[in-house]
Amino acid sequence: MELKEIKEFLHGGDYNPDQWLDRPEVLQDDIRLMKQAGVNVVTLGVFSWSSIEPKEGVFTFEWLDRIMDQMYENGIHVILSTPSGARPPWMAQKYPEVMRTGENRVPMLYGGRENHCESSPIWREKVRLIDEKLSERYAEHPALIMWHLSNEMYGRCYCEKCARNFRKWLQKKYGSIEELNRQYWSSFWSHKYTDFSEINPPARHGETQQHALVLDYHRFYSDLQIDFLEMEKEAVQKYNPRIPVTTNMFNVNCGLNYQKLAKSLDVMSWDSYPRWHCQKDKSTEWENAAGAGFVFDYARALGGKPFYLMESVPSVPSQFEVCKLKRPKMHLLSSMQAVAFGSDSVQYFQWRKSNGAVEKFHGAVIDHNGSADTRVFRDVCEVGARLKDISFIKGTQEKARAAVIYDYDNMLALQEQSGITRKKEFFASQIQRHYEALLKNYVNVDVISQEADFSRYQVIIAPLLYLFKSDTAAKIREFVEKGGSFVMTYYSGLVNENDLCFSGTLSDPVFPPYSLNDVFGVRVMETDAICDDEYNEFTYKGEDYKAFTCCELVETDGAEVLSKYKLDFYQGMCGVSKKQYGEGFAYYIACNTEDAFLYELYRDVLDQAGVSRILDIGYVKDVMIRERGGYIFLMNFSRETRTVTETITLGGYDYIILQK
Ligand code: GLA
Ligand code: ZN
Repeated sequence: MELKEIKEFLHGGDYNPDQWLDRPEVLQDDIRLMKQAGVNVVTLGVFSWSSIEPKEGVFTFEWLDRIMDQMYENGIHVILSTPSGARPPWMAQKYPEVMRTGENRVPMLYGGRENHCESSPIWREKVRLIDEKLSERYAEHPALIMWHLSNEMYGRCYCEKCARNFRKWLQKKYGSIEELNRQYWSSFWSHKYTDFSEINPPARHGETQQHALVLDYHRFYSDLQIDFLEMEKEAVQKYNPRIPVTTNMFNVNCGLNYQKLAKSLDVMSWDSYPRWHCQKDKSTEWENAAGAGFVFDYARALGGKPFYLMESVPSVPSQFEVCKLKRPKMHLLSSMQAVAFGSDSVQYFQWRKSNGAVEKFHGAVIDHNGSADTRVFRDVCEVGARLKDISFIKGTQEKARAAVIYDYDNMLALQEQSGITRKKEFFASQIQRHYEALLKNYVNVDVISQEADFSRYQVIIAPLLYLFKSDTAAKIREFVEKGGSFVMTYYSGLVNENDLCFSGTLSDPVFPPYSLNDVFGVRVMETDAICDDEYNEFTYKGEDYKAFTCCELVETDGAEVLSKYKLDFYQGMCGVSKKQYGEGFAYYIACNTEDAFLYELYRDVLDQAGVSRILDIGYVKDVMIRERGGYIFLMNFSRETRTVTETITLGGYDYIILQK
């Protein structure tokens, strides 16, 4: 289902008028100010359950009718949300089973949001009913352009109903308890099951060390949540199946498998809250922008078309350790970045700052002062105006020739396993670093899963692809054979999708990367971890680079050794290699290394593969360059002026858009 043909970029955000129903003058101001700011979309009803069903079975849609009509009369589109992100107290009191049970098996008390048991038949029934009522009432409303299902789903329930569903899910996946025992390697510590009924969801005071069980619980729960969203989708589309659906994604590591979820959605949308101007861990503004870029490239690639920036903040979020204001020009720059990376909207959380409760200080377009004479309001108006100027870019998408693999199952497994390091954040941050090295080479990038269609790309980087699904090795082989360049790193091809190590025998030994030794010309013999204050070293094209965290001891067979370790007992062994296989090239990086090296190597990989840069220049510090719809966006994420080429200079936090 496609979004109604709208020529302009969407500009607007979460609008919660139900918090001001007793203040009609505020609601009048809202409409005037929205028009002034070039707002053409609002997301209504995200947490409105109490306002539309204040008592069980009593529905009060009249206020929403009025707002929907007013929006339409004023040319503002509506994305209407189902209210299942939170529930009214009456429901939890009457039906405690709708609440989640914690991993510690303690049922939660009423409060907060996103804390439901998706196995609860009552919760499902209540959500279905209210969704169908919304559909019945608004599915044909001319203001409605899209349904927004729930809000930022995440987390898990551990109640007995969920445990029962989990056992059924396992039974379906494995067929027999013997097969489950084989995949779980459960004779270790005598954890062999004799029946599915013996299996319980993981718990810190129970089982967490059978990694396959932990992975399966995450996957099961993600499937349960997707099934729940499918139920919501069916309900809202009951009276008009032509209205597309989305849900706001927000964290690639939130537990929900977005790769799978994407198949149930018509439009991908993302909530983005970089820590602008917070130099935490010495991160620069460019790195903050690259963090946002990564998820934008992920969201866009998930849908294979433009995505929607569903939430961002026009000033300052309230959930960070240090809540810094967006510096002048940053709001426009960060909004344009989303557009450059493929968003068809710039939307905010939220339109008007709430007067009370936890997010009362979370930045919004209109502050508590109610005034339009504010820096933030002027910034938002400017974004509205600039988006109008570039309407011709809306709906376009630029093909990326290079991709980085960030895979749901692989990340789950990396974060559970104990090897190399216990620092869970290490793994995601490594993938980000490889992505950044590509970004600095000024090419468009897709962030894809290992299930994606590789044939669309010329270069694929697979950092730490520890877990191989059943056809991954064959896909990589075929990709290289047919002319692709594939970069693999240390800690890849070690386990199957159940975190079970690939193993061999005397007559048929097996070395990582599994089943690809001939493609890469490498066999990994051992893996050394390196303490934080230590390093190894290697030289690439005359420059010395350091190796940190992990060095694999690799034997080569047919691969060209690009760099050798210079220190320790494995000095002289291969650190980086390249092998031609079929029509393509297979690169192997055996250690964690410096950003500067990755940048140089990827420059050579892209050149060899014939992937041309958007602008044929080297990386200009803090400057990001992306192409969309035949236009080049140059964005300076530094507060200093940057000279990009002889003719292009960008002032601090400035951007320009050039026709290609
Ligand atoms: C998320 C939620 C919003 C709000 C913002 C605050 O994105 O979806 O409801 O809580 O965070 O940053
Ligand atoms: Zn449950």
